[in-house]
Formats: sequence, structure tokens, C-alpha cells
Amino acid sequence: MDPTTQHEAANSLADNQESETSASANGHAKANGSASAANGSAQAAKGGANTPNGHQPSSVLLQRTSDTDFRTVLSNGLAACRRNVFNAAIFSFVVNVLLLAMPIYLFQLSDRVYTSRSQDTLIMLSIVVGGAIIAHVFLDMMRRFILMRVAVETEAKLGAPVLSAAAKASQNGSNREFQMLGDLQHLRSFITGPVILMMMDVPVAPIYLAATFLIHPDLGWIVGGTGAVLFVIAIVNQKLTAVPYTQANTFAMRANLAADAMARNSQVINAMGMIPEGVLIWGRETAASLKAQVSAQDRNIYMTGLSKLVRLFTQIGILGWGAHLALHDELTGGMVIAASIIGSRALSPVEGTIEGWRSFVQARSAYARIKTLLQNSPLNWERLRLPRPEGRLTVERILYVPPPTKKVILNGISFELEPGESLAIVGASGSGKSTLARMLVGSIIPTAGNVRLDRMDLRNWDPRQFGQSVGYLPQDVQLFPASIKANIARMREDVTDEMVFDAAELADVHEMISHFAYGYETQVLIDGTPLSGGQKQRIGLARAFFGDPRLVVLDEPNSNLDAPGELALAKALSRAKKRNITVVAITQRPALLQSADKIMVIKEGTAHAIGKRDDIIPLLTANGAGRGAPLSTASEAFA
Ligand SMILES: Nc1ncnc2c1ncn2[C@@H]1O[C@H](COP(=O)(O)OP(=O)(O)OP(=O)(O)O)[C@@H](O)[C@H]1O
Ligand SMILES: [Mg+2]
Repeated sequence: MDPTTQHEAANSLADNQESETSASANGHAKANGSASAANGSAQAAKGGANTPNGHQPSSVLLQRTSDTDFRTVLSNGLAACRRNVFNAAIFSFVVNVLLLAMPIYLFQLSDRVYTSRSQDTLIMLSIVVGGAIIAHVFLDMMRRFILMRVAVETEAKLGAPVLSAAAKASQNGSNREFQMLGDLQHLRSFITGPVILMMMDVPVAPIYLAATFLIHPDLGWIVGGTGAVLFVIAIVNQKLTAVPYTQANTFAMRANLAADAMARNSQVINAMGMIPEGVLIWGRETAASLKAQVSAQDRNIYMTGLSKLVRLFTQIGILGWGAHLALHDELTGGMVIAASIIGSRALSPVEGTIEGWRSFVQARSAYARIKTLLQNSPLNWERLRLPRPEGRLTVERILYVPPPTKKVILNGISFELEPGESLAIVGASGSGKSTLARMLVGSIIPTAGNVRLDRMDLRNWDPRQFGQSVGYLPQDVQLFPASIKANIARMREDVTDEMVFDAAELADVHEMISHFAYGYETQVLIDGTPLSGGQKQRIGLARAFFGDPRLVVLDEPNSNLDAPGELALAKALSRAKKRNITVVAITQRPALLQSADKIMVIKEGTAHAIGKRDDIIPLLTANGAGRGAPLSTASEAFA
């Protein structure tokens, strides 16, 4: 990639990011303000500055400006690319027509120069053909430059939307969507590859064909007939190879997923000597992929060989039949050679297309996958930027039945929390607590019923604004490979150190962090080292409280904590209460219950009991379950 192209790509990516940054700038303004009225005007001031269509937003309601509609990226964003591909196609046409200069030169030499013996004609012809060849080379370079830029622009334009849409789509638990970035690279290498040029040469084939007809109809028929045969071979080739190529791709994708899984579980694999099994699983998928690949490639080679044979025989046919015609004085020798050159020029793009058919099919299906992903992304629907939520959480008769199983996981749970109220959820393992937590932060959608924040269904919140108003600590905490500071700041770059410190203070992790040699700048690796399990959980807690969220959902925040850690958690919860943050905490341990206003007992997906803390605790501790016993047993005793 040359420097200009790189620069353009970087610019294009930066364009995409700019909107993101302005969105976070909004969030920043909000997070810094304390009174909500002040927040509103800060938002409006920021929003007014970057509302593209210039209409003044009201002070409270602010049209979101962050995410672009991905469908417009496909239509308008790629319009320039389409136009440029069209330009390249026109260049290709001219490039190929100019190539006719060579046979015409030959033709003229044999028919005029040799017969007239004119030196001047020879010089003139040579100058003209030289000019045509220079123009040909120049235009050929131009079309390659254009295509290179189209490729880079396509990747730059689609990169950010594809990754965003993939991240959104993967919240249902699959990470297959992330492979779409590979699809994007496929698309780019196709556009810069030789096949697309071959395909652009195909429209000129009729002109060459017409030229051979002009030389002699018999030769035209030979070339035309061969073209038809090659076309049939191309179709048969496509039919024969489509299935094995698809299989090869599917297996290759599965092999990638297997290798990914190995990378994620590297500790387990090494500790228990599972490398051979991991390799075996990966190897099985890879072998299947290679087998399908070989079968497809074999068929492709047969077809390519056949088409080459046909084409070479055509050459012989043209020369042989041309010589026969020359013997009968219907043609000159120069015309025969010119016809042979023109004929092969007419057929070579057809043959090239047959050979490159595979990469075309791949690029086409890669584009189709990207298109489906972008068109169906839930991020497409524009939502109003609402006033900053207060933190009133309403859950109305939610039912959750995930599609393939038809198993009811959550059934008819309803409750309401006022801003600043806290709810502890207890229940046996597998009773649906984590599922409920994920639903409260909008990462899974209930089959029926609603979850509302400040009376607005979660689905109708602008995802970015909602995310900034919510904190979530999952049961299995994963941190990003970055510094502790960046992890607490949710990887945002527009934050002040005070905001990070504030979250650390709130979650009571400042002292723990200060014990690391590099403090907040300590780098966390992909597997969480150098943090212990409990430390990771506490950093996750600080991340959940970052940016003054209004609703915080904690999934077993104390599962890895020691006594001081639990004490810190209790302090964090009481600080959250002072700041009017609504908290939902799932727990298996009794200590946390003392910090909650309300308690809900879940049993097999239904709310078995819900009420004030002091009403529920006696029920839980009744039937002889001691205070120190894990709550799963306590709630079972209660049941
Ligand atoms: N997408 C899904 N498809 C099918 N079943 C699911 C799905 N998600 C969760 N489940 C099932 O829902 C039940 C509740 O799971 P959940 O993770 O919410 O339990 P939990 O109460 O958090 O348990 P634990 O205390 O062990 O964390 C489990 O039986 C689980 O198998
Ligand atoms: Mg759980």
C-alpha cells in the first residue's frame, strides 16, 4: 500500500471514529456534572455543536448523533466505491481496445508496408502503435490504482460498522460474527487481485470477436464457438466446485474457532495436558477443510485444463484454417497471425474468469454476509437521546425461553426499584439469576414482558447512552489487555484521572491498586495476570461504578472476595446508596444481604419470595440454616 492510500484509509477510519468521540464527549459532560439540570444544558451545548443537520435540539431531549445507520454505509458510503469500480471498468474497456493496435499493426505491415515498400508508412504506423501502447500501459496502471483505492476505501468504510455490528450481534453468545473482519479482508484482496481485472476484460471480448469476423467469418465462428464452449465449462465448473468450496470454508471457520477456544483456555489445556485433544479437534476440522479444498481444487484443475486445451486447439484451428484460406487466396499471412492474436485476446479473459471463479464466489458470499450483518443490526434503529435516567428500574412479568430449547428459564418475574434502592437476588445454582442480570442490562431480550429504566423499555434506549448509565459486573470477570486505569475507565480515552479515581474510591479499590508497583498504570494481560481472581473482581466492580452510572448490576460480586474484600464491597454499596445509584446484586453469601433494601429469592426461574430485607431474612435463616451457610442451601431449606 502506498503512503497516500494509507493516509486516505486512516482519514476514513478517523471519520468513523470522530462521531464516536463526540458521543463520548457528550457522556463526559454528563458524567462530570452533578445536578441533572446542569447535565441537560451541558449535553445540549455539546449536542448543538455536532448536530450535523443543524437543527437546534431542545435542552432536554437530544437527538443522538453517535452511530450512523449501517444501511446508509452500504448504500451512500459505498456509492463512491461503486462509481470508481465503474470508472475502472471503462478504463478496462479502453485498455483492451488499445491492445487491438498490435494486431492491426501486424496486419498493416504485411498488407501495406510489404506491398508498397513505403518507409514513411512504416514510420507513421510505428509511431501510432507506439502511442497506443503507451496509452494502454498508462490506462492499465490507472485502473489498478483506482481499484487499489476502492479496496482500501471499502475496508476503511466498512471496518468500523462491521466490527460494531459484530460486537452487537455477538451478545447472544456466539463469536462467529467477529470472523466478518476476515470477510472484509477477503473482499479487499479480491478487489486488488487479478481476477476482477480479468472479469473487467470480458465485456471487450465481443469487439475482438467482431474483429475476427471481419478478418474472415470462418475464423469468427471458430473463436465464437470456443467462447461458447468455455462459457459452458465455466458454468459446469461453478456447479462442480460450489459445494466443496463452501464445505472447505465452513470447516476452516470451525478450525479457527477451535484454535480460538484453545487460546482462551490455555491455562486449563496446559495444566491438564489437554494439548493433544485440542490439536486433535483443530486437526479434525482442518483435515475436513483441506479434504474439501482438495476435492474442489481437483475439479477446478480438471476444468481449467479442459478450457486450456480447448483454447490451445482453437489457436491451432485459427492458424491451420487460416493457412488453408490463405492457400485459396482468401487471406494474407499477416491477417492469419493477426486473427490468431485477436482470437486469443478474446478468449483469455473468459478463461481467466473460469480460473478465478473461486475467489469471485468467496468475495461475493463475503459481501453478502457483511451486508446481512449490517442490514439486520439492531444498531440501525435510531433512538432518541433521552434525559439522563434517574435509575428507576421496572421489571414486568418477564418470560425468557431461548429459541432452540423451548425451556422456560425465567417466568413471570416482576419488581420495581426506586432510584437508590438496592435489591439482593438469591437462589440455587441454575435458578436463572445470571440470566436475569443479563436481561437487566439489556444484553438479552426477554421473550415476553418488559424491563424498563425510567419507564422506557431498554430496547428503546440509545445503546451508547444506556451503556453509560449502567454498570455491570459479570459472574466471570474478563478484563481488557490494557492498564488498570484504562480498564476502570471502560477503555475510554476522554476521561480525566479524577473520574477514574472517583470510581476506584467508590468501589473501595484505591488502596488495593496502590499496592501494585505501577499502581493504576499496571498492565493487565489477556488472561488477567498479574491480578488475582479477587483483584480482578474488584477492578471489575470499579469499572461497573465508573462514570456515575444510575443502575449497577453485580453478578456474584463477592464470589472471590476475602473478608476485607467483602467489607469493601459493603462500603461500596452504602456509598452507592448515598449517590442514589440503584443496585441489583446477586449473591450466594449472606453478608451482602445486610446491605440490601430488598431481597428476592429465585427458584427455577420464578420469584419465590420478594420483599423488604427484614421480612425475608428470617424466612431464609429459618429451618435451621445457619447464618454462615451458603444461601443456596438456605433457600433450598426455605423452599
Ligand atoms: N441461552 C440459553 N439456552 C439454554 N439454556 C440457558 C441459556 N442461558 C441459560 N440457560 C439455562 O438457564 C438456567 C439458569 O442459568 P443462570 O446462569 O441464569 O443460572 P444462575 O442462577 O446464575 O446459576 P449460578 O448460581 O450457578 O451462577 C441454567 O439451567 C442454564 O442452563
Ligand atoms: Mg450465575
